[in-house]
Amino acid sequence: GLPAMAAAPRKIPFGAAVRGGALTADAAYGAALAERCRLLVPEGGLKWAVLRPNRETFDFGEADQIAAFARRNGLGLRGHTLAWYGAMPAWAEAITSRVEAEWMLTSHIETVVSRYRGFIGSWDVVNEPMPDKPASPQDLRHFVWSKTLGADYIPIAFKAAHAADPAAQLVLNEYDVEFVGQRFAMRRAGILAIARSLLDRGIPIHAIGLQGHLFADRAIDRDGLQSFLREIKAMKLDVLVTELDVIDFGLPTDFATRDALIAKKATDFLQAVDEVTPPSAVLTWGITDRYTWVPIYFTRPDGTANRPLPLDSDLRPKPLMSVIERFTGNA
Ligand code: G3I
Repeated sequence: GLPAMAAAPRKIPFGAAVRGGALTADAAYGAALAERCRLLVPEGGLKWAVLRPNRETFDFGEADQIAAFARRNGLGLRGHTLAWYGAMPAWAEAITSRVEAEWMLTSHIETVVSRYRGFIGSWDVVNEPMPDKPASPQDLRHFVWSKTLGADYIPIAFKAAHAADPAAQLVLNEYDVEFVGQRFAMRRAGILAIARSLLDRGIPIHAIGLQGHLFADRAIDRDGLQSFLREIKAMKLDVLVTELDVIDFGLPTDFATRDALIAKKATDFLQAVDEVTPPSAVLTWGITDRYTWVPIYFTRPDGTANRPLPLDSDLRPKPLMSVIERFTGNA
């Protein structure tokens, strides 16, 4: 008889965070991104601190540069991020009234989202709303928008993003939702509560972003993660992996051993997600160990460089790259 027809391999878009400065200075880096990725996301170029050097003006230099690179290479672009406690300009500390805060937040979102309307297809509207150790699922991180607007800053941001680009996918993005421990369970509960409250109020939210900053030596709570994902699926929300990398702080020095453990951790995570709901995209937080945030916080005690990303610092693919290629169907 005829051989069984092989199922068409699925294609999940793969992408990576990108630094504008490095794109300018390092042609091989740009070539690696163009070769490996279908999606990009600026690692910093769309953050408040970069876009808003002062309260009157916008500086779209880096974001426009990355958007032009994406266009030239036929790549899609995600936006990161509209409301986040990190990378806020110092001048924003002077925002203390509710009226001013609501105006600043909505007008910022209107300006930024409409500039890339039709090109940035997906936005991390609210990033990292949960405190590191929430006391309850209702607990929110304290920063300018929650201090002035309370929990309302979240629906305000989602509404403003939707108004500025009704076709964009709006994402609630969070880290530390996959590990074993009470504080991670509390963070998962908090994210579900935020999503549910938006949906109950008829406010558009389309997906949950799992950042996926994994630790090679930290256990993933498979059951906890999967029941979290089942709740997300029951709400008819998509799931994206938005910032995958594997922190190798405590791993052995030997590269082959280290890279294998990193690949294994990413495999365990991606499989756990996939069994419940295949992600609509997978992005790593950088493409090469040459440019990664990890050493800022997790410099290795043995003095060797961190290896958290799919390509090594010479842009050679490591086992993590193969894991992602197989997983996304781009092998
Ligand atoms: O560009 C300047 C450089 O000119 C200067 O010499 C140097 C000195 O410190 O700083 C450089 O800027 C740094 C920038 O990264 C360069 O990439 C900033 O200080 C530093 O704060 C900034 O850190 C970024 C961090 O977010 C804060 O915005 C990391 O690159 C970026 O990877 C990290 O990304 C976050 C996501 O947005 C949210 N999820 C977690 C993730 C990792 O922490």
